[in-house]
Amino acid sequence: MKNYLIALLAVVTFGLASCGGGSNDKAADNQEATQAVEQKADQAQQQAQAASDQKADEQKADDQKADDQQAGNDQAAAGGKDGKTLFMENGCVACHKETEKSVGPALKDIAAKYGDKAKLVNFLKGNGEAIVDPANFATMKPNLEITKKMNDADVGALADYILSIK
Ligand code: HEC
Repeated sequence: MKNYLIALLAVVTFGLASCGGGSNDKAADNQEATQAVEQKADQAQQQAQAASDQKADEQKADDQKADDQQAGNDQAAAGGKDGKTLFMENGCVACHKETEKSVGPALKDIAAKYGDKAKLVNFLKGNGEAIVDPANFATMKPNLEITKKMNDADVGALADYILSIK
């Protein structure tokens, strides 16, 4: 009787194990199949996203082209970039106001001290010495790296703008 029970138990256990194993395999197969489908769906979505991103980028590039053209036209009409725009775009405005001293001297004080365009251009090209507030030249010095790299037309426009402030 005892042996019989043990045998039965063994059969049942074996049966359960193999049956369970079988269904596990199936479940695993199913899972794999589901994953594969999900992966495909993800890929398709990514491709669609990439395609639409590219379209948006192309659109942006086209817009940029139109903008550049417009800017080019404006620039040509104005005969080069205007000095005030350069003064703003290059961050000079952070330390210089037109008529009041801030971190740096007021532009009207710089204009009064220089008076002469060639001399001011010379300073902006990094070839002159500070004459307005030499004690604080260390604060100004890094900005000459920007103006030194500008073309003659831009440095001239910048100097014209500064000298125009009274
Ligand atoms: C971080 C603040 C700061 C910025 C940004 C700055 N400056 Fe200045 N600048 C100063 C200070 C301070 C002085 C006074 C020291 C001196 O005279 O060199 C000065 C002086 C000057 C002078 C007079 C130089 C002289 O002979 O003494 C000119 C011209 C000038 N700046 C032009 C510019 C231009 C153009 C820009 C932008 C490209 C600019 N600065 C950006 C702080 C700044």
